Amino acid sequence: LFAGQSEFLKGVVAMSGLPPADRIEVCFAGRSNVGKSSLINALTGTKGVARASNTPGRTQEINFFVQSPELYLVDLPGYGYANAPLAVVEKWQKLLKQYLSGRQTLRRAFVLIDSRHGVKSVDEEIMSLLDSAAVTFQVVMTKADKVKEKDRAKVLEQVRAALSKHAAAYPELVLTSSEKGDGIATLRSIIAHLD
Ligand code: GTP
Ligand code: MG
Repeated sequence: LFAGQSEFLKGVVAMSGLPPADRIEVCFAGRSNVGKSSLINALTGTKGVARASNTPGRTQEINFFVQSPELYLVDLPGYGYANAPLAVVEKWQKLLKQYLSGRQTLRRAFVLIDSRHGVKSVDEEIMSLLDSAAVTFQVVMTKADKVKEKDRAKVLEQVRAALSKHAAAYPELVLTSSEKGDGIATLRSIIAHLD
């Protein structure tokens, strides 16, 4: 699945724009700046296929990447960006809700959590949304290279406690660094084994 190059297909701003549901897909959700686009670049090994940036709120559309004839990778707009206008936030939320609850071929949502910060209330909100939509989700810890080994356990404990409250949560966490490559092979293998 990850042998070939990944290709950007399209950015979607309304349900009517979704590509045909002709293959399985996984999506990447998380707070603005958590590292969604960087993770997609690392997973695909196609540098720059997803636009990563220091400017929060960079990805404002649901971006579809063709990973193979059997798989789409889906980069979701980041949430919890304080400076986004309310009207924009509400529009995203509506689209996100429709997408998560209405996409037959969506096999798993990966919820990205910064290894330094743990689960925040906006993350809890998306997790509850996934519970209601009955979409299995798995937490991917990002930017592992930015935390010291000794600070890691506490954050992981907080994340596990948060997950225990969510029916749709898959218990196993994946620790990653898009920068160093940690956990990327593990995540590829998890995706490759979904059916
Ligand atoms: P939005 O599209 O705004 O929601 O952000 P995003 O979640 O797609 O984040 P993005 O991938 O653009 O990364 C945000 C910033 O974090 C960039 O400056 C990245 O270089 C940095 N970053 C992402 N992943 C890592 C990582 O594993 N380690 C380190 N050190 N920095 C990272
Ligand atoms: Mg992004």
